[in-house]
Amino acid sequence: MTVIKTKDFKLRHVKLSDARVFFEAEQDKEARRNFMTTPKSVKEVEEDIKNEISQYEKEKPTSERFTIELNGKCAGWISINQLNTPFFEHKAKIDFCLHPEYRGKDIMTKIVKKVIDYAFKKYKLKRLEAWTRTFNRTVARLNVKAGFKLEGILRKNKCKNGEYLDDMVWAIIR
Ligand SMILES: CC(C)(COP(=O)(O)OP(=O)(O)OC[C@H]1O[C@@H](n2cnc3c(N)ncnc32)[C@H](O)[C@@H]1OP(=O)(O)O)[C@@H](O)C(=O)NCCC(=O)NCCS
Repeated sequence: MTVIKTKDFKLRHVKLSDARVFFEAEQDKEARRNFMTTPKSVKEVEEDIKNEISQYEKEKPTSERFTIELNGKCAGWISINQLNTPFFEHKAKIDFCLHPEYRGKDIMTKIVKKVIDYAFKKYKLKRLEAWTRTFNRTVARLNVKAGFKLEGILRKNKCKNGEYLDDMVWAIIR
């Protein structure tokens, strides 16, 4: 199902056939560094996609994930996560990834802006968060351009392969 369509991109609900591109999108050095975990196989991505598809039918989904289509081709994904958490129903978090072939073309900021508006309206949010590691300058810049405010840095918030990582917490409130 297509949810958002502009002259530059289309956002539709995910399909099992997106699994290979999603897998390849997270295998390069940048994605591996920026995400806490990345999929080990296409099969693993297919299992994630099945779970995401089951969310579309729910009255209170915990996430809504979209496939990004550029010129009719799957180019990556964007997700609204942490929806409908008890006592935090007014907030959610977004995450995204583009296949390396499509990065650096000034596209993701436009997509994030559209998803921000969609998420606030559809889920009646008051707060939308975006988290990233402090070394991820691309996402920090993107978040500024999309209208997020940096609220703080959680020092040594995560531990990955024995290395303690600082998280930047960004948010938009409405
Ligand atoms: C993050 C990602 C989606 C960005 O997509 P994109 O379409 O290339 O992003 P945009 O072009 O809209 O914006 C990126 C901005 O960061 C800037 N940028 C890129 N690398 C940078 C760096 N090393 N330092 C500072 N700014 C940088 C770009 O110049 C651009 O800003 P500008 O328009 O002012 O020039 C893409 O790089 C990606 O998929 N990365 C891997 C997955 C990932 O990190 N996901 C987020 C996890 S928190």
